Amino acid sequence: MNSLVFCVIFLLISCSGLQLPSSFKKCDRRRSDFNRCLSKAVYKAVKVLDKPLKLYGLPSLHDVAFPPDFFSEFGNSTYGLRQKYTNYRLIGLTKPQNIVARLDFGPLTSTLIIEATYPKLDWEVELEAQGTLVLLPLNVKTPLDFTFENPTFTFTFELEEYEKGATYFRVIDSGLDMQAHGIKFDFKHLFSNRHLNKEFNSEMSAKGRQICILFKS
Ligand SMILES: *[C@@H]1O[C@H](CO)[C@@H](O)[C@H](O)[C@H]1NC(C)=O
Repeated sequence: MNSLVFCVIFLLISCSGLQLPSSFKKCDRRRSDFNRCLSKAVYKAVKVLDKPLKLYGLPSLHDVAFPPDFFSEFGNSTYGLRQKYTNYRLIGLTKPQNIVARLDFGPLTSTLIIEATYPKLDWEVELEAQGTLVLLPLNVKTPLDFTFENPTFTFTFELEEYEKGATYFRVIDSGLDMQAHGIKFDFKHLFSNRHLNKEFNSEMSAKGRQICILFKS
């Protein structure tokens, strides 16, 4: 146990005696610079996963499609606007600017915190909307692209140790927090009037910071 050489990939795959890809950095948890090493290891691993590593069963993280049953819904079609956002895709997760990772070892569980900052991250979504915008009737289905500007994603993983020939971690809980300096919106055709559509996108983008807070909830 105290000679455990820990590597981040064990967190990403349920590993059954697999060798690590040679491109993955290893860190020794007994060393005082462990967290700095871990940050570099995560940074490198995320970059490598721009392409899938088929041999290790690891998918690419470059273009992540969320499951179709993942959606967000707001509003009401009788009083206001019912909006349903589906088919989320997140593009660019493998291009971080910086990663700060920390692993706090506890007696029962350990906590891994990864703070990843990006120059930008692109999302693609489908929007269905029915109801009224102020009093203007609206019944549309449109693609929406939006970009987080200078986002920071904070991933938290609760880990439990288990033995299988060696000591490994399994993720028993996880969380995500997102902060962004702004959001740029591009509703492809929310309004049939192209001028209105363009001006609406620019007004939404100008209020991106406020909308960020709504989006998070
Ligand atoms: C919208 O909200 C009102 C008031 O809460 C409710 O009476 C109505 O049934 C809702 N309509 C729909 C379509 O959900």
